[in-house]
Amino acid sequence: MEDTMKRKALLTSCMIAPMLLAGFEGQAKDRGSIRNGRYLVMIAGCNDCHTKGYASSDGRTPESQWLMGDDLGWNGPWGTTWPVNLRLLANSMSEREWMRAKDVKARPPMPWYALRDMNNRDFRDIYRYLRHLGPAGRPSPDFLPPGKTPPEPYVRYPR
Ligand code: HEC
Repeated sequence: MEDTMKRKALLTSCMIAPMLLAGFEGQAKDRGSIRNGRYLVMIAGCNDCHTKGYASSDGRTPESQWLMGDDLGWNGPWGTTWPVNLRLLANSMSEREWMRAKDVKARPPMPWYALRDMNNRDFRDIYRYLRHLGPAGRPSPDFLPPGKTPPEPYVRYPR
């Protein structure tokens, strides 16, 4: 009787251990993705536009406030654009939807070609980092077509 129970316990742990290990491995991979996404966001300059006050703080804005968009508009021949709140955006999309946005042309001054030229893994890791940060902040103002005067503050490109 005791033997059977021991055998059962042994069998159960043999089955559970690989599952636990796979779980840890998944977590470690996720952590790697998040770390890489964070690094990319910092060195690719995404915060310059998508984080309010990042440049003027010499990149010292607390991480909890990163990538929530900005109310500083960019006005030029294309109209006026506002850097999107990437935390709200990524947290409203599946990973697959995010990947589909990779090659989509955005209006200036978004360097959309940097996303196009990025490899899929890096682009995915940015998504995972944004999901890790979680949704926060408010949506940025909607695009204004050319000829409409935007509310202050905005940067004006020469025509
Ligand atoms: C020079 C300013 C600037 C920089 C730098 C910048 N962005 Fe943007 N980004 C914008 C603006 C402005 C928009 C809104 C464009 C529009 O309305 O079409 C935007 C839009 C986006 C969008 C939404 C595109 C869509 O399909 O609606 C994504 C995603 C994005 N940026 C990601 C990034 C990432 C990731 C980085 C860093 C690699 C980055 N941006 C760097 C200004 C910038």
